Amino acid sequence: MTAVLDGIGVAVPDRVVTNDDFAARLDTTDDWIRTRTGIGERRIADPAVATSDLAFAAAQDALKHAGSESPSAVLVATTTPDHPMPGVAPLVAARLGWDAVPAFDVQAACAGFIYGLAAAAGLIATGVSERVLVIGADVMSRITNQDDRATAVLFGDGAGAVTLRAGEAEEPGAIGPFDLGSDGTQVGHLMVEAGGTRVPGPSPEEPARFLSMNGRDVYRHAVRRMTDSSSRLLERAGLEVDDVDRFVAHQANLRILMAVADRLGIPEERRVSNVDRFGNTSAASIPLALADAALRPGERILLTAFGSGFTWGSTLMTWPDLGFVDNDHRR
Ligand code: ACO
Repeated sequence: MTAVLDGIGVAVPDRVVTNDDFAARLDTTDDWIRTRTGIGERRIADPAVATSDLAFAAAQDALKHAGSESPSAVLVATTTPDHPMPGVAPLVAARLGWDAVPAFDVQAACAGFIYGLAAAAGLIATGVSERVLVIGADVMSRITNQDDRATAVLFGDGAGAVTLRAGEAEEPGAIGPFDLGSDGTQVGHLMVEAGGTRVPGPSPEEPARFLSMNGRDVYRHAVRRMTDSSSRLLERAGLEVDDVDRFVAHQANLRILMAVADRLGIPEERRVSNVDRFGNTSAASIPLALADAALRPGERILLTAFGSGFTWGSTLMTWPDLGFVDNDHRR
């Protein structure tokens, strides 16, 4: 069986932080941030809000628009779980009232949502689950030093969820094939060093608990890996770039996604971007972009993502008729 998408939902915090808000307290400008990244504003969660709160809200939104049956598994792609243990997925499943379904997290940073889709497709293909809820959720502001202009301006908080059911590869909504990869030798370019078993328990003030990044190296690897992964995937699927109606790349920043699309030869009007309003929301960025893109039933979509690890992944899908064309009905 193939995984078929039949519902989508999103949740973002109400609080909008603009580039000018950063410029008011850090040595940066709206122009620098827009020119380098395409980001204009992002949503930032209040201190009381944890990743499972956003994940739960996105799940409720997705379930409202999906078929009536309850999913039989919950996967949450996240780098920012509520706690080191347990994962976010069991917490979300419990809040949804499902106390005995398989529920686990996928940690593949900004590529996590694609990895989550692949894991869900595996659960469906092997008959373990008939319906899977896949959520990408991150509160990146919690692991980003809000006083570091080089990283704070890039990230936002949010969650997106999709419901998948078992179906046929030819159906609208069908997802696959996949191309996934990683290169752990590059770990030092983008990481949170402390808080795990290698460097446990930093105090809240220690820099090692925050995300550190070599921006230029990340940029270079992100463009190369997403381009190569997308090309490999199209070849595996027996498709040409012209067969792709819409291109949804991880919304890390506009320059990265334009560079990948340029290299692949995808025309501008087929590129989807909402990074100007949400920044880089890590595992949430692909579903947030899908929900915003006003996709039409039958359009073939190429999804690709890249993140810390490094990890990367790409997949293809055709957009199903969900009864609405964009996200406005939710606002
Ligand atoms: N405002 C003003 N100046 C800044 C800011 C800022 N917000 N941030 C950095 N600078 C300064 C730097 O300190 C540096 O100053 P210096 O020359 O005096 O040392 C100068 O700007 C140039 O810095 P660079 O890092 O060379 O700037 P670059 O043109 O490479 O742009 C950027 C930086 C936007 C981070 C770029 O490297 C990039 O997009 N990298 C990818 C990073 C990314 O997307 N990370 C997200 C996580 S990974 C993922 O999701 C794929």
